[in-house]
Amino acid sequence: MKEAIIDQTVAVTIRDVEIPTPQPGQVLIKVVVSGTNPKDWKVPKWQPDNVINQGDDIAGYVEAVGEGVQKFRKGDKVAAFHEMMSPHGSYAEYAIAWEHTTFHLTEKTSFEEAATIPLAAMTAALGLYQELKLPLPWSPAGKPTPLVVYGGASAVGAFAIKFAKLSNIHPIIAVAGKGAPFVEDLLEPSKGDTVVDYREGDDAVRSKIRAAANGAPVHYAYDAVSQKGSHVNLGAALTKPGAITTVLPTPSDEAADGIAIRRTMVGSVHMPPAEGKALGDKEFGAAFFQFIGRGLAQGWFSGHPYEVRKGGLGGVEGALKDLEAGKASAVKYVVRIGETEGVLL
Ligand SMILES: NC(=O)c1ccc[n+]([C@@H]2O[C@H](COP(=O)([O-])OP(=O)(O)OC[C@H]3O[C@@H](n4cnc5c(N)ncnc54)[C@H](OP(=O)(O)O)[C@@H]3O)[C@@H](O)[C@H]2O)c1
Repeated sequence: MKEAIIDQTVAVTIRDVEIPTPQPGQVLIKVVVSGTNPKDWKVPKWQPDNVINQGDDIAGYVEAVGEGVQKFRKGDKVAAFHEMMSPHGSYAEYAIAWEHTTFHLTEKTSFEEAATIPLAAMTAALGLYQELKLPLPWSPAGKPTPLVVYGGASAVGAFAIKFAKLSNIHPIIAVAGKGAPFVEDLLEPSKGDTVVDYREGDDAVRSKIRAAANGAPVHYAYDAVSQKGSHVNLGAALTKPGAITTVLPTPSDEAADGIAIRRTMVGSVHMPPAEGKALGDKEFGAAFFQFIGRGLAQGWFSGHPYEVRKGGLGGVEGALKDLEAGKASAVKYVVRIGETEGVLL
């Protein structure tokens, strides 16, 4: 089968490899569409010796299952989150995922939409519920709970907004720029939700976040940017005691007094529980991926806007270079594997 690997210059090579065999607990998926993520160009730069298939968002059909897999069988339409940094990612004709990070799709959901979801939506969910400990959708907030989502047009930020709405968390104060019109469509102004434009500068962002809360204390923020001073702006705008969850490492000396910074790491759904904890993010992930599948089937959850990059695996390089250049606004780039040169449908 064909597989794409990415080097530190973000050059993509397509090579022929064996189709993998699923191990106990794993699902082998024939990939129809793969999503792309910022980490796919970042990790090769951090780890130049690790030239691997970085794709983690899978949408396709189950081809085979490993020993012990209960919920899936050949032919099932699924989406899945591939274990980051492990072999057999989604930039290939076949990819491997663990059963607990795979979920069923109905006819209603396109492979393109599904491929926008696993990594980014799980990052959003972990941050809101496991790090910020905000109310879960099945036990929603019963009182106003202001939340800032910094980077509301990013895939992670937009999913955080969607989950916050399911949890009745309002007002949502979303920080966005070019993607502001998309974010406005997600928000519910009748519940006090509003957009703050980061292009007006740091001082304006800080004062407008406070103004948007209408005098109410703002204790929580999801920082889906975590660079360009976003966490510093949040530290200045939030009310003590506050908590920000970040998606990238931020210098500890930049944390504001009384405002905790808690890092979200989506890879935690593939980690064993922390010492002394019986259950952790792995079980949260297992439950929440099924919840997402139900939301897609029932129409109360949806994917991110997407753009299909032409050429299948041949389109990955251009997509990742555009992600690196910061060109993606309110969009996830996806590739259809069947368009790859030399791949027979
Ligand atoms: N820790 C983890 O486990 C984890 C998981 C997933 C992603 N991440 C990281 O999270 C970040 C977001 O990932 P993603 O996939 O959501 O990215 P993405 O969708 O490609 O993000 C693009 C968006 O970022 C927004 N943006 C850029 N600079 C901004 C700023 N200063 N203020 C507000 N918005 C800004 C842009 O908004 P406008 O269009 O409005 O300008 C654009 O729509 C990346 O750095 C990624 O590496 C971490």
